Amino acid sequence: MDAREAFEIGGQGHVFAFWDELDDRKKSSLLGQAEEIDLAELETLVSNLVKGDNIESEVDYRAFRPAPYEPIPDDLNKDQKWVYAKEIGEEALRGGRVAAFTVAGGQGTRLGYDAPKGTFPITPIANKTLFQVFAEKIRASRDRFDSQLPWYIMTSHANHEATESFFRKHKFFDLGEETVKFFRQGRMPAVDFDGRILMESKGKIAMSPDGHGGALRALDRGGALAEMVSKGIDLLSYFQVDNPHVQVADPYFLGFHIQSGSEMSSKMLPKAYEKEKLGHFCLNGDRLEVVEYSDIPDELTSKRDESGNLLFIAGSVAIHVVSVPFIQKIVEEDSPISLPFHKVVKKIACVDGSGASKELDAPNGVKFEMFVFDALPFAKNPVIVETTRLGDFSPVKNTIGVDSADSCRKDQQKLFASWLAHEGVRLELGEDGIPLNRIEISPLFGYDKGSFCDSWKARKPSVDFSKDVYIA
Ligand code: UD1
Repeated sequence: MDAREAFEIGGQGHVFAFWDELDDRKKSSLLGQAEEIDLAELETLVSNLVKGDNIESEVDYRAFRPAPYEPIPDDLNKDQKWVYAKEIGEEALRGGRVAAFTVAGGQGTRLGYDAPKGTFPITPIANKTLFQVFAEKIRASRDRFDSQLPWYIMTSHANHEATESFFRKHKFFDLGEETVKFFRQGRMPAVDFDGRILMESKGKIAMSPDGHGGALRALDRGGALAEMVSKGIDLLSYFQVDNPHVQVADPYFLGFHIQSGSEMSSKMLPKAYEKEKLGHFCLNGDRLEVVEYSDIPDELTSKRDESGNLLFIAGSVAIHVVSVPFIQKIVEEDSPISLPFHKVVKKIACVDGSGASKELDAPNGVKFEMFVFDALPFAKNPVIVETTRLGDFSPVKNTIGVDSADSCRKDQQKLFASWLAHEGVRLELGEDGIPLNRIEISPLFGYDKGSFCDSWKARKPSVDFSKDVYIA
């Protein structure tokens, strides 16, 4: 049966409604898109998530409990457990067991930035892009631990070429071209509220990235998993492209993961306020789950203990360590583990039955996405480790206000000021705790408190803090 017949039988024949009007190139590209679609999978998703029998809405959250986590001590260097975890993590880095992994396939719609999000300039003085910040942290970590630490970057169809050419233009930020690997994530068709596939134009199906959960199968499909195994890499340090504060390969976190025999571990932050837009770590029976901020009911987020503290306090900062054999187990044929799809209701650009663009003033359809944290319930011995906000998390998601470029640049300066204070340098701070003169520290000088303090002591730079300062 050819693709057109299969779509007709599957009730999606309208995808080829304009077939006779298409030139050969458009015909072959439409067929290519059609072949990417698993019609049986789509039919199940439509009936479960679009046409009423929404499995997600049936979850009974009343039995959910807050998930336990490893709290961060006041002084990491004095807590035996943390000191030991760090040693183990550093050993893994030195042994070349770790790869950095960035999910960078998202469309950055909320930020209103029309290019790969990683190319967004974010540092307060040198205006380095998100990608450059990660690249320099990776370089610095490689130098510190004399490790290979390759970098895998997941792109989407929409931004793959632009991402690769950005790295080429910047000579891979001196990481070595062969150590940075890009691969595209999968796509899913978008449908209207009746489950009919939406057409972006007469010859093009409206397809969108399959969510960061698609990373696991894309790692396999693109050959990255096999490559990791051949290089002796068994640990992925996973982070999102929107968060320049992240520690790209944190020895403490890696150590806790290894020590616990965990297959997947996550970092948490106590939520700053009840409705902070973070996933929530919860126990559903003995299963560890992340419940998205959009799904968790108010009766859970508002629950407090006798002292008035929020009970569901553990927010996900989307930083994980994932073991490579665990990913292999998930992606192998006939694996009993499969990540569920979620529906995301959106305005989706499309044409109507006559081929004319539709005016959209409200959401008109559904995209299907998998979330990587849905692998957690399947992982053996998962651990959640607390981190600090400045030390690991200040994402760039919105144009203004909370989680914007402005708030992130301020947070970077607060972080740098705190490192300097640790070395006895007291900067003049404004009321909000931000230095009055701008300050930036290159990751190549120090990419976390430990590496910064070591460089500061070793190099003793002479710095005039009465003006803007870039320490490199
Ligand atoms: C996400 C998490 C949330 C977490 C928060 C922390 C989800 C669904 N939610 O929220 O639990 O607390 O971050 O900042 O992820 N991406 C892809 N491909 C895709 C979709 C996304 O690579 O198909 C990447 C994006 O480039 C980005 C990241 O995943 O790096 C997060 O995506 P986004 O949709 O912005 O998630 P948030 O709603 O911010």
